[in-house]
Amino acid sequence: MDSIEKKISELLKKMTLDQKVGQITQPERQFVTPQEVKEYHIGSVLSGGGSVPGDNTPADWIKMNDEYWAASMEADDNHLAIPLIYGVDAIHGNTNVKGAVVFPHNIGLGAAHDPDLIERIAAVTAREIAATGVEWTFAPTVAVARNSHWGRTYESYSEDPRIVSEYAPRFVKGLQGDFGEEKVVACVKHFVGDGATTHGIDQGDMNISDEELRRIHIPPYRAAVKAGVLTVMVSLSSWNMEKCHGHKYLITDILKKELGFDGFVISDWDGIDYLADSYEESAVMSLNAGMDMFMITGRWKEFIEYIKKNVKSGRIPMERLDDAVKRILRVKFKFGLFDKPRPAERKLSLQNSIFGSLEHREVAREAVRKSLVMLKNDDDILPLNKNARILVAGKNAHNRGHQCGGFTVAWQGVNDNDPEISGSYTETDTESASPRKNLNISETNSLILGGTSIWEGINRVVPNTDLSIDGSAADPDKHDVAIVVIGETPYAEMLGDIRVGGLAKGLNISKGSTSEDTLPGEDIPIMKKGPYGTHLYLHELHPEDIATIKSITSKGIPVVTIMICGRPLVVNQELEQSKAFVVAWFPGSEGQGVADVIFGDYPIQGKLSFSWPRYDDENWNLGDKDYNPLFPYGFGLEYK
Ligand code: BGC
Repeated sequence: MDSIEKKISELLKKMTLDQKVGQITQPERQFVTPQEVKEYHIGSVLSGGGSVPGDNTPADWIKMNDEYWAASMEADDNHLAIPLIYGVDAIHGNTNVKGAVVFPHNIGLGAAHDPDLIERIAAVTAREIAATGVEWTFAPTVAVARNSHWGRTYESYSEDPRIVSEYAPRFVKGLQGDFGEEKVVACVKHFVGDGATTHGIDQGDMNISDEELRRIHIPPYRAAVKAGVLTVMVSLSSWNMEKCHGHKYLITDILKKELGFDGFVISDWDGIDYLADSYEESAVMSLNAGMDMFMITGRWKEFIEYIKKNVKSGRIPMERLDDAVKRILRVKFKFGLFDKPRPAERKLSLQNSIFGSLEHREVAREAVRKSLVMLKNDDDILPLNKNARILVAGKNAHNRGHQCGGFTVAWQGVNDNDPEISGSYTETDTESASPRKNLNISETNSLILGGTSIWEGINRVVPNTDLSIDGSAADPDKHDVAIVVIGETPYAEMLGDIRVGGLAKGLNISKGSTSEDTLPGEDIPIMKKGPYGTHLYLHELHPEDIATIKSITSKGIPVVTIMICGRPLVVNQELEQSKAFVVAWFPGSEGQGVADVIFGDYPIQGKLSFSWPRYDDENWNLGDKDYNPLFPYGFGLEYK
């Protein structure tokens, strides 16, 4: 037995039932105090998207994690010192935290097709996480998104498992590396087939064969496990109507036995809630299926009672509970958590000037440059001449919040540069029915600190460009060309879906908000709001965009369109009206990268990692029969 396995066995032998069950429980920070961490022997705490301490500075995060950690390390007759592990959604940078560098969402990184860059992005992300005293991120998402109606398409690198499988191990390596002071624990998610649900419904059902599951959705996990990923998160979706959270074949037989995964498996946000009619049954079913750690909001004390009761009665074999605890301890030992100083005294906590540093921003800016995909360039209008007289227009031209997309400061993203209508997390009453992702209006917490909007980036290269969001200032006597930045506004899971009808029944929507909470800048409560739209047509989702473009072209000024989006959209009308058309995805905080490319200082090199639709009713993926998208997988024009 190697030394880590020996340490695990010795520690396990000392643990009581209470201590074991606490170790597998992960409450959300709004629902648990440091005192309770000790009292219930809690193994982990998390922050949901937008759930942040204090004023949301790195120092606030260090202080919070330090308190939880200290509680977990107090040793006395009743309590063993086992360091807590804190988890966050650092999915495109450590973006819950104000001032973090925000990288392009995964869909843009897929277009960049640069595995070395992926590893560097992950390494920077790890440093920005470590600089907040945190040890674990629920990233990378290795979904292979097969239907662009899915609101999480932007979290996917590609519809093609090859890119995802190539990136997954590199991202894991960049995060975990040597488990040293600048590294964090990675978590591949959401196991498995989250990108395969029918109609792209978030948390829906994937109706596919075992063969297709293995060919398309399992390979990225195989690659990540081989690269030593320490944790895996299970999907809230179902496979042929059976929820993944209770799926023994998927979790135990495939992931643990077949792929040989020896780290721990974590449930997603309140993911066991809907497995069975009773919560007790759900908890038993999931643990017995192979789940090791449980991410829970309000019901974690109930969960602990049910698990203890059912271990005592024998419905949950003690070996299963022991296996779960051993896996968690294995990760903590492998990562060296027992030897690390308290969060406030770790190397990067003490050097948090690296947080949001210029060096980190340069990596994000490079990623922006490499992710841009050019779909049209009539008369070689791009790259633009720096002497041209330029008008910049469009609702996404000067809005860092919009260009960052979801999972940035707030769960569903923010509308920045306009404090009036910015939304972000504020502390909530933990007694209320509102778990994390509360979206109250708050100016101070909403800002994307640092970085540049796309207009700011352009203006730095060509000073004195005119900014006119609705394009009304367009004047052929004053402007040779207009750059119009259009597209989607931020969204995240569930609310980002595009489909007819409201949020599907049975969806895990309780996690989002109460019936009163609203999205940034909107009056309609989230729960009444439903999905992002009904069809993939941009002119229906955002009629203001084509209106802005036409108001400019009607004056005879040529338009270069830059589109912010989290998925391929049907943009035939906008394409037709534009001389050039560039897809920028959700580029993140470093809008300067767009100017780097459109003025020709750098080449344009991104290639589609998703097939591009002509109509809404088609959903081509590379390799499909009669494949005939508007722009095929791999398309992307270059400068001559
Ligand atoms: C999402 C996960 C995320 C978790 C914690 C869930 O709703 O599906 O991707 O890691 O919340 O915020």
